[in-house]
Amino acid sequence: EDDILGKLPLRGKKILITAGPTYEAIDPVRFIGNHSSGKMGFEIAKAAANFGAEVILISGPTHEKVNHNLIDVIPVMSAQDMFEAAHKYFNDVDVAILSAAVADFRPKEVASQKIKKTSNTLILELEKTKDILASLGAIKKQQYLVGFALETNNEVENAKDKLKRKNLNLIVLNSLNDKGAGFKSDTNKVTFIDDEETITSFELKSKAEVAKDLLNKIISVIHA
Ligand code: CTP
Ligand code: CA
Repeated sequence: EDDILGKLPLRGKKILITAGPTYEAIDPVRFIGNHSSGKMGFEIAKAAANFGAEVILISGPTHEKVNHNLIDVIPVMSAQDMFEAAHKYFNDVDVAILSAAVADFRPKEVASQKIKKTSNTLILELEKTKDILASLGAIKKQQYLVGFALETNNEVENAKDKLKRKNLNLIVLNSLNDKGAGFKSDTNKVTFIDDEETITSFELKSKAEVAKDLLNKIISVIHA
């Protein structure tokens, strides 16, 4: 035992993290995506590894980079790819934190050739993607499962509803109402709601600090 100072509270734990956007193909050169930077998920991965956890980081397309011997990056493109990767690793982990901004809809059919601009309008039919978080909630055993929620109205009620519906242990509510919080920024303003309905609100902080708050919450539960 070389962690005599107790600085590696997650040593021996395996954590799965999803991060970034997903890209849903329209044709060979186009996709439907979103502005998620992946920063929040990468900061969670770094904080977890610095606490000694073994991290599987499943990431959609992002400019973020990480080089840590405890972090295994699994790059994916679409919601379906992310779903398959998450299910491949989930059985084996102690904690899963799903911070990715997964597309809710994808083109029902992907054109095999580049779509030409021959008509004045183009109608794309979209179908729902699989909800990765809900699918893990439905099969979870020992895993401590954490989701995120992005809400613009009835924030706490909607987040509590997602926590219950998806069978989560904790949900991180992202406040979009505050300047400097959210998708592309380096800061975030969050509220934690756990499965005992304990609500903890935080000030606007760097995403690195939010990541530490989140891991400290998880450590306090799994060490209790
Ligand atoms: N999520 C997921 N798979 C999806 C959609 C969302 O795993 N296909 C996860 C996100 O990573 C996040 C949580 O579900 O942890 C909530 O995402 P959010 O977009 O806030 O909620 P949705 O359930 O997609 O509902 P809506 O967008 O209609 O509010
Ligand atoms: Ca969504």
